[in-house]
Amino acid sequence: MITTAATLYNWLLVLHILAAMVWVGGAVMLGAQATRVVRAGDHDEVARFLGSLRVIGPIVLAPATVLVLGLGIWMVLNSAAWDFKQEWVQIALGLFAGAFLIGAAHQSRAAIQAERASQRGDQAEALRQLTRWSVGYWTILLLLVVAVWDMVMKPGL
Ligand code: HEM
Repeated sequence: MITTAATLYNWLLVLHILAAMVWVGGAVMLGAQATRVVRAGDHDEVARFLGSLRVIGPIVLAPATVLVLGLGIWMVLNSAAWDFKQEWVQIALGLFAGAFLIGAAHQSRAAIQAERASQRGDQAEALRQLTRWSVGYWTILLLLVVAVWDMVMKPGL
């Protein structure tokens, strides 16, 4: 008989995947938008994009990031099949740490400097900082794509 009873683990996985979708999907959309704004080089658009970034980052991306990590760790603790000594779990934590560090150290600084430059009317500097931000963001996305590969393939198992 096929059973449809969902366990706690199933729900953790559903939420983990949803949070990862928001994070990865959000990264693709923001990265594409940033690249378009940088290419267009329009100062008003740069200012508008930076403004929406300040709102969307904390409301959408930060919670998704925290949920991916929290639910991932919870699943490892919840399941007898996984533990923190497994290579794929360590790779996941390493990739998460990499993405998080780039976000906390490089991205936030580039975004703040871009916004300051934009506010004082230094459009060239705002564009330069937004370009830095955009490169950092594509790098984060690359790490997330490797993370999805790692989740599905589970190297070392
Ligand atoms: C870094 C960003 C991450 C992304 C984009 C991501 C994405 C995913 C995806 C798409 C799945 C579904 C794979 C499948 O069911 O075949 C998954 C499963 C899972 N992830 Fe993550 N994940 C990330 C980080 C983490 C971290 C840091 C941990 C733990 C420390 C973790 C633990 C797990 C576990 C335990 C599963 C369930 C595996 C299974 O039931 O087969 N994930 N993740």
